[in-house]
Amino acid sequence: MGEDELRKAVLEGCPGSVEADVTEYLADMAVSVLEENSERDAFAEALSESYLPFLEDSGVSDEDAKAFCSMVVNSAFPTSQANVKDNKGGAAVADLNVLCRLPNLLMMYGGSTVPLLRNTTLEFVKGHRYGVVGANGTGKTTLMERIATKDIAGMPQTIRVVHLSHDKILRGVDATTTVKEYAELHGCDKESASSADLALALSNVGFDDEAMLGKAVVALSGGWQMRLSLACAVAQKANLLLLDEPTNHLDTAGVRWLVDFLNRTCIGGEIGGTALIISHDAEFLDQVCTDVVHFTTDARLAYHPGNFSKFKADVLRGDQEEADRLLENGPSKTGGGVGASMDFPAPEKIGQTAAARKAPVLTLQNVVFSYVEGQVPVLSDVNVKLSMESRVAIVGANGAGKSTLLSLMADRLKLSGSGELWWHKQLRLAYVSQQHLDHLGDCLHMSPVDYMQQRFRSGFDSETPEKEAKTLSASEETERKRCGIQFGKKSKPIQALLSRMEQVRHAAGNGGAKEFLYEVQWEGLGDAEITWERKGKLLQCGCEAMVDDLDERLWRAWAGVPQRPLSTEEVVRHLSAFGLAEDIVCNRKVAMLSSGQKIKLMFGAAFWTRPHVLCLDEPTNYLDAESVGMLQEALKGFRGGYAIVTHHDRFAEEVADETWTVADGQVSGAKRVWGKAKAKAKATSS
Ligand SMILES: Nc1ncnc2c1ncn2[C@@H]1O[C@H](COP(=O)(O)OP(=O)(O)OP(=O)(O)O)[C@@H](O)[C@H]1O
Ligand SMILES: [Mg+2]
Repeated sequence: MGEDELRKAVLEGCPGSVEADVTEYLADMAVSVLEENSERDAFAEALSESYLPFLEDSGVSDEDAKAFCSMVVNSAFPTSQANVKDNKGGAAVADLNVLCRLPNLLMMYGGSTVPLLRNTTLEFVKGHRYGVVGANGTGKTTLMERIATKDIAGMPQTIRVVHLSHDKILRGVDATTTVKEYAELHGCDKESASSADLALALSNVGFDDEAMLGKAVVALSGGWQMRLSLACAVAQKANLLLLDEPTNHLDTAGVRWLVDFLNRTCIGGEIGGTALIISHDAEFLDQVCTDVVHFTTDARLAYHPGNFSKFKADVLRGDQEEADRLLENGPSKTGGGVGASMDFPAPEKIGQTAAARKAPVLTLQNVVFSYVEGQVPVLSDVNVKLSMESRVAIVGANGAGKSTLLSLMADRLKLSGSGELWWHKQLRLAYVSQQHLDHLGDCLHMSPVDYMQQRFRSGFDSETPEKEAKTLSASEETERKRCGIQFGKKSKPIQALLSRMEQVRHAAGNGGAKEFLYEVQWEGLGDAEITWERKGKLLQCGCEAMVDDLDERLWRAWAGVPQRPLSTEEVVRHLSAFGLAEDIVCNRKVAMLSSGQKIKLMFGAAFWTRPHVLCLDEPTNYLDAESVGMLQEALKGFRGGYAIVTHHDRFAEEVADETWTVADGQVSGAKRVWGKAKAKAKATSS
């Protein structure tokens, strides 16, 4: 390109807020940068370095500045000559097959001055499936988010991108949204999907009868929710499918199905779909990838045709350690944060003698459970027990009833039919749900200490469905209304007791006696009129039954141990055992925590009540291998019992000595059989 044309491109394309003399100067600068750099990439880098400070001073936004630089680079090196040497596999690919090519990409992150990607090419070829690998913190997930929102200068707006990540699946879903409604909302957009496409996609993933389609989305098991959102992506005929750890929540059959689905859907075909996949799982990547995209240490993207094994052999020369690092499976400096371990506090013992301590602390006997009365039970004839020495893995297919079983044991679900749940009266139990990391999703702007204080403010763990307040009897209800008119605030009765806190009274003569204050919501009065009242006042207002009920529920949560004060010092002390330093606990926002630190906070919170027994539902989802290792060690060192739902065989083998299998509505299992059963299964299959 001639000098004059380049000058012209700069003068005409320069953002309006840049003054005329500065624009002239930028045009001259482009010419001299081109004289010194005959290669496209080098030119682009030098140009950005020279231009960006001027553009910023002239009030041009970061995005416009980048777009302008891109335009100048494209003028100096028109696309037909574009040097795509970064894309070794794609150099010979005809443009027709290219879904998207963005040369000279510069990607910044947050307030950081160091780019995540610079001077590199983002290119996707139709029908290819790219496994994205790179060490912890290189920006894989950020790149995916930016592609998903098309927040990259020059990205064609016509691409239909579907981004599948677990934390988004339940957005906008309420308790009654059915599978069909969800699919119509998420799976159809006017241009791409017809209802026939949608029905086909749904039936391909297993939603093939009206009963399944009429189910509430929240009533689907985790694995089935994942299948539903994949079906919606297919129906939209996404031509760019972004998958972040897609095998989480899926059972073995589900993973097999996903592999087959990706290989069928994304191969050239009529849709010509392309997929970008982040996974820790080398075996899974091997089965689905046609190319590997490598985030290099100098912030570029390098493309390698072939699956992960080929990449490992050719590029990494078989270096397993490096392979683990790129899949974030090895030790890293950032994953664990401060200290790469956590200690679960030892609970006090239940039972006086060694033998008594081996006795069950929780049993479910002869339980038959269905979510909807009259329907076929999800679980029948359940007889299980846990002691403080139990180390149980609960396994089974998606939708088998594992989460249901765990919630019943943890007393989060009310027994519906026959059977009995028994807890030792001193038992405290911590329950972590399958969507555990979602808990932190709403609290990203808070510090860990604020998070803990908010979560436990009412005395309960507000993140686990608490036991409902009891319904008052007719006479209690009459009493509440009658006394409320006489003694209530503005003559209103008490509507609900929200929480309770302990207060020390320093009045003369009472020796600093403690008493409880109850947080009162008054009927017909707004939140601004909530008050804290003594028990005497509540009795006067005819609410003895409500007080007893709240006291009883708190007793159950704390099993008679005094409720812990939620002071900053107490929270800091508690979280330090989980490897979180005071500075992080008080000053860092949850959003800024590494994944290892988030997991520490989550477990720290679950352990606030110093539980004897843990019920964990698929705790390894979302965890990188280092965090899985950290959790494994913490569990091994824990002096209480646990039951853990998992699809992760190796993890189960490490932490459990007893396996319960949920299948066909039944729970089967025998104590201490994991190792032997496995060995036997291996012996018979070989
Ligand atoms: N709230 C609910 N209302 C009605 N049905 C439900 C509800 N929750 C779960 N179910 C149904 O109960 C059955 C068992 O679900 P559950 O979540 O226990 O399975 P799971 O074994 O944990 O599966 P996954 O591995 O996919 O998490 C499924 O058929 C599910 O659709
Ligand atoms: Mg489940």
